[in-house]
Amino acid sequence: MNINGVPHRTIWLAQDADGSAIVWTLDQRKMPHFFDFIALKSSAEIIVAIEEMWLRGAPLIGAAAALGFYLATTEIDKNASDWREQITEIAEKIRASRPTAVNLNWAIQRQLSILAKAKNLNEAQNFAQQTALDIVEEDVEICKQIGAHGLSIIEAISNQAPDKIVNILTHCNAGWLACVDWGTATAPIYQAHDKGIKVHVWVDETRPRNQGASLTAWELGKHGVPHTIIPDNAGGHLMQQGRVDMCIVGTDRVTRNGDTANKIGTYLKALAAHDNNVPFYVALPSTTMDFELQTGAEIPIETRSEREVKYIQGLHEGTLKEVLLTPNDSPALNYGFDVTPAKYITAFITEKGICTAAELLKIMND
Ligand code: MRU
Repeated sequence: MNINGVPHRTIWLAQDADGSAIVWTLDQRKMPHFFDFIALKSSAEIIVAIEEMWLRGAPLIGAAAALGFYLATTEIDKNASDWREQITEIAEKIRASRPTAVNLNWAIQRQLSILAKAKNLNEAQNFAQQTALDIVEEDVEICKQIGAHGLSIIEAISNQAPDKIVNILTHCNAGWLACVDWGTATAPIYQAHDKGIKVHVWVDETRPRNQGASLTAWELGKHGVPHTIIPDNAGGHLMQQGRVDMCIVGTDRVTRNGDTANKIGTYLKALAAHDNNVPFYVALPSTTMDFELQTGAEIPIETRSEREVKYIQGLHEGTLKEVLLTPNDSPALNYGFDVTPAKYITAFITEKGICTAAELLKIMND
């Protein structure tokens, strides 16, 4: 998407001065105050970047994992007879770097099944590079298609009262910063805005890491989309006041029955939307569908450090500072995700079309 009119992506493959492969990505730890790209030079650095959330968001994690797999193939001694085992070992470490976003597992699985066809290390490197590049490009196209389908929903609401602004609530960051480009939940919003439809986004701050306040607000602002940051617990009140026309959220994993894991707090928004007859949409690339799991109860939910709850980062006199928010001795609990049952989801917006939970498996398999 555009930053001050210039198109950008979150991740790409390049060559270092010595010819070795490197991955460039946005360092999201410093956002929104600093906009810095960082070079990841090894599969080990990709693992740290995923674990420590230098980059985050299910589709972007999948793309980074695929590129990390390619870097792994370049790290093996060309005379090693066990090159396949060595690559597989690194792949398993990448796969274990974060548990909830299924795109990570999907990308590694896709790379491993192509690795099985390689007859030698050179071929493995070529296959892995092409697969990683394909995954990156496909993600852009998938998100664009999600946008095209989701646009029809926003357009329909706008057509009911063309002078009225369509108010959309979103949680966390499922924008282009969480993907390669466009975003999942934001793609319909960007396309509506670009088409001249009047939209305004309520941006949940999304404690504890504040992906909404720091990332979604930043990217919407850079693209010129009107938005307002709200505390996480304000959404229900706004819905009661009739100030939310629809919710769109992203997801990290959707099971066969349509249960949806997303950033912690999503479930409460779905409950409030249900109680207030506000349509609640989940934007879902097929890469986030988990065909192995039947229901949300089976989804592994990541628990992160209590430090993320107890400290908060901000800008002080030009530098980033972390400050303690809570009593130092109080324990904190930090589940990264929750599961919204399918019954609270009005429809899924996928790259293949819009569907209910009952239609999801069919549309994703087609
Ligand atoms: O912990 P994060 O920031 O990696 O969380 C993932 C997310 O960005 C959200 O859950 C998002 O809504 C889904 S990813 C498009």
